[in-house]
This record gives sequence, C-alpha cells and structure tokens, in this order.
Amino acid sequence: MEKLIVRGGHRLHGTVRVSGAKNAVLPIIAASVLGTEGSKIAEVPELEDVSTICKVLECLGIRVDRSEPHVLKIDSRNITGWEAPYDLVSTMRASFLVMGSLLARVGRAKISLPGGCAIGTRPIDIHLKGFEALGATIKQSHGSVEALAPNGLTGTTIYLDFPSVGATENLMMAASMAKGTTIVENAAQEPEIVDLANYINVMGGKVRGAGTTAIRIDGVKSMPGGEHMVIPDRIEAGTFMVAGAMTQGDIKVENVLCEHLKPLIAKLREAGCIVEEGINDVHVVGPRELKPITIKTMPYPGFPTDMQAQVMAMMCIAKGQSSVLETVFENRFMHVDELLRMGANIKTSGGRAALIEGVPKLYGCQVRATDLRAGAAMVLAGLVADGTTEITDIYHIDRGYENLVSKFTKLGADISRVG
Ligand code: EPU
Repeated sequence: MEKLIVRGGHRLHGTVRVSGAKNAVLPIIAASVLGTEGSKIAEVPELEDVSTICKVLECLGIRVDRSEPHVLKIDSRNITGWEAPYDLVSTMRASFLVMGSLLARVGRAKISLPGGCAIGTRPIDIHLKGFEALGATIKQSHGSVEALAPNGLTGTTIYLDFPSVGATENLMMAASMAKGTTIVENAAQEPEIVDLANYINVMGGKVRGAGTTAIRIDGVKSMPGGEHMVIPDRIEAGTFMVAGAMTQGDIKVENVLCEHLKPLIAKLREAGCIVEEGINDVHVVGPRELKPITIKTMPYPGFPTDMQAQVMAMMCIAKGQSSVLETVFENRFMHVDELLRMGANIKTSGGRAALIEGVPKLYGCQVRATDLRAGAAMVLAGLVADGTTEITDIYHIDRGYENLVSKFTKLGADISRVG
C-alpha cells in the first residue's frame, strides 16, 4: 500500500503553481454530454477523479482523448448509453452530475445511488426535486435512480432548500435544453458554478446570473460544444497558503484568483500572516507564532468547508484557543482523531463544533488520510511535526491534488511517496 512520508521541520519557501480546479472540471466534463459535436477543455488537472468522470462519459459512448497533457478533447456526437454504473459512482459521487446533462440530451438517465461517503451521508433529494419540477419522472429501485423525460423538460422556477453546489450544477445542465426559461433560486454561488455557466454558454447555451443566488437559464434547442479553460483550484491554492502560514514560510502561489480566496485570506491575516494579493498570484509569509482564530464554514462566499481540515491543522499549533463550526456537512471531523494521534488538543461536540487548544509541538506518527481534505491536513501537520509522519490511504489525496509530492518538494518540504 502506498504511503506518504513527511519529515517535519522545514520552512517552506519559493513558488508553486496551482492546477485547474477539480470541482470546476468535473461538472464541466459532465456538461460535455450536452454538445452535439464536441469540446476542448484546457487546464485540466491530472487527477483520479478526472479519470473517473472520463470513464463515466466513455460508458455513455462518448470519446475522450487525453493524449495532450492537461487538455481533454471530447467527441460527444454519439451517445449510445444513459447509465452510470455503480463501480464508478461509488468511487466518486460527482458521477451523479451526468444526470442533468443526459436528461437534457437524451431524455433519460440511470445512475447508481452514490451511497455514503467519508464525509457523511450526502443525500441527492434537492437534485431529484429539481428534475421533477422540470417535468422528469423519477424512479428509484435496486440501488439506482432513473430519470425519464421522453418529451423533453420544461422550464420553471425552482427554489433550492439549500444552496447545494451539485444540485445547482445538475439543474443548470438539465435546464439548458428545456423548453422555455428556468430560474434556480437560492442557487449556490461558488466560483465553480460560474465556470460551469461560462462553459455552457460557450457550448451554445444561455445561462445568466451564475454567481448570484438566482440563475436564469433560457433553454436552447441544441448546443454544438466549445472550447474552455478551467479556473484555478482555490482549495489547492489555499492548502499551499496554509502550508506557508504553518511553517513560518515565504511562499508565492501562482495561478490564483484572490477574489475566490477572500475568507481564507482574511483568516490568515487574523492568524498573523502577511498576505499580499497579486493579479494572478498570492504571497504568504507565516509568522513566528500563529494567533488563534475562529471559523464557521458556509456556502460561498463564506468560509469553504473544503479548507476546514487544513485550517484546523494550523490551529493545532497556534498559541491559544481556536474554534471551528462546520455547518455545511454533518460529519466532516474525521481528521480530528488523526490530529489527536499527533499530539493535538481538540475537543468536539455534536460532530459540528470543535475547540482547538494550540500545543507547542505536534509529533510525527502513522496516520490515515480519512478523506481528501483530511489527507491534506495530515500532510500539513506532518510538515511541522517533530519526526516522521507516515500517511496511509493516500488514494484519497490523489483524487484531488495533482503532483502534491513534487510541488511540496520544490517548496523545500521533505516528503516522499513509498510503497
Ligand atoms: N445536500 C442535501 N441534499 C442534496 C444535496 C446536498 O441535503 O440533494 C446537503 C449535503 O448532504 C451537504 C450539503 O448539502 O450537507 C452541501 O452539499 P453540496 O451539494 O453543496 O455539495 P456537493 O455538490 O456534493 C461539492 C464539492 C465538495 C464540497 C461541497 C461544498 C464537487 C465535486 N464537490 O459537493 O467538494 O465540499 O460542494 O462546497 O464539487 C472536496 O473537494 O473535497 C469536496 C468534498
């Protein structure tokens, strides 16, 4: 079994370039199902999750050419299937994102139910309620969901009970070829939603208002496809910024849109870091001693849940008491037990609140990457721990961080992959 070995105690310095955003490229690849000709997507990160969604497309008869690094050429002229199988959906929930585009393009979709995942039960009720509002019939049996709209979908106004990122994306795709206009209210406002809307528009769709709480989608008869470049990954960028903060480092992170990182930048400054925002980069200098901070995760533009674990690792070595309130997911504290093994002082209550009393030192030991961001938190903790940290279950990390080892090595970390 492969492991990451991190030897702590090195100040990170230098420049690192972040890759295209995982959570933007996955819905963008799913939206490619809509194109009757094909698309070319640039700045595609080379990740396990990208391979998985490409396999989902291949199950539908779509041809995906990955011969050029970081570029996908998608030939979606012929769709021969409408099912996403369990083995793909169970490894990556985002496979469910092809439901909206399949419904729009071929009027039917059958997807295995995603089931539980490392960060808790994640229902799909908001997606399904939206598809029904657009006129689809939903059937659930034998562990799958089937959506049918043989005569096409019809635009309507849909209010989301929660601004779910995935539901907003799925409904934007479904509505893009519906008859008439759809308005998604209480929509998610994440930058990845805007990137998807831009892609749908270059493909020939008509989406307005993405990035606000009300998105208007005027249905079009068909969309040929188009060319698009994926936005930078704000969570990968944030992970390096926290690494700089924790190691008394001096790091320039390139290919960054600071506008997408405002909550993290504010919190790093509160913790005592110097953060200089450039047009396409951000420079972080970590203090000698970190100050404690408080975070509450929220949908965008609030503090991102995908940075909660990494920032908790930082809080473990701040001087004083920090706190975390996780409001987006019910069970996203799997990293707490692993941080405790490293000597952290954390008390949780109700699975959503944590009090973190900073300790002078963390100690290297064997820990697990319990999910993608928890795995990133283990790497960060390992960078400052006394001795060697051995991280197992690193397939979680491979799902979302491209070339993590070489990027951290270039910044001066002592990290390697073995096994
Ligand atoms: N929810 C429902 N019903 C639904 C959909 C969501 O109750 O039908 C709940 C979820 O259970 C959760 C909350 O709403 O408690 C937020 O879920 P959301 O749908 O917004 O998340 P997602 O689309 O499943 C995406 C990212 C996640 C990120 C969240 C929140 C992708 C592929 N995934 O998930 O990314 O945490 O938005 O920002 O875009 C990660 O990258 O590590 C990751 C988990």
